[in-house]
Amino acid sequence: MKFDKKKLIKSLKEPKINYIYKNIKNLKKPKILEFGVRDGVSTNLFLSVCEKNNGNLISIDVDNYGKLFKNKRWKFYKTRDDNFNFIRKKINKLDVINIDSYHEPNHIKKILFYYFKFLKKDGIMLIDDISWLPYVKNSYRPNSFNEITNKRTFDKLLEIYFKNIDIIDLDFSFGNSGTAKITKKKEKNLKEPEKLMNSVNDLRNILKKVYMRKPIK
Ligand SMILES: C[S@@+](CC[C@H](N)C(=O)[O-])C[C@H]1O[C@@H](n2cnc3c(N)ncnc32)[C@H](O)[C@@H]1O
Repeated sequence: MKFDKKKLIKSLKEPKINYIYKNIKNLKKPKILEFGVRDGVSTNLFLSVCEKNNGNLISIDVDNYGKLFKNKRWKFYKTRDDNFNFIRKKINKLDVINIDSYHEPNHIKKILFYYFKFLKKDGIMLIDDISWLPYVKNSYRPNSFNEITNKRTFDKLLEIYFKNIDIIDLDFSFGNSGTAKITKKKEKNLKEPEKLMNSVNDLRNILKKVYMRKPIK
């Protein structure tokens, strides 16, 4: 099938999918690249927009999902997202890049930095799993590994933004496990991220918190 309408309607009830949809639904002739197919939820959404707006989608995954859809607007390649020499020959300038493959902050940074040059000016890069809120101990699906990984991804994106405020905009949506959106403002290469020197973690401030007398009620 070209795309699954029933599945689309159901998936649009998910805040995360709805956020992506709102950001791409009006793009004319969108050129989209996505990393990570598995259940095909995002692939289905992208294909529906490509059908409506005369676009094209390339999907990449290490597992073979090439038979999920039969659509002339779709190309699937079974390969790693960092198979740069292979993938660069398959793509031109892009309007949307969706990163939902290997969720490790340094890997995401590597993918983001390599493919940024293929993004058109005003193009967007969407990064999945940036919210740790569903995973904290008192939340609805506690999981310390996901909590820490997603928080590290969120922090990494802030560090990238901090050094590239003139080149990109950064927005977050916290629906489900969260999505980050990077918008390219300028045709320039990204500068390397730098750790944020947060004062919260200063010894002086930690001591202050411990020893500061509480006001008498
Ligand atoms: C969370 S799933 C993607 C879900 C999909 N976007 C959706 O909406 O249904 C992650 C996918 O990334 C793939 N993957 C993991 N590491 C990868 C890598 N380094 N390169 C390419 N694909 C990878 C996995 O095989 C898996 O299918």
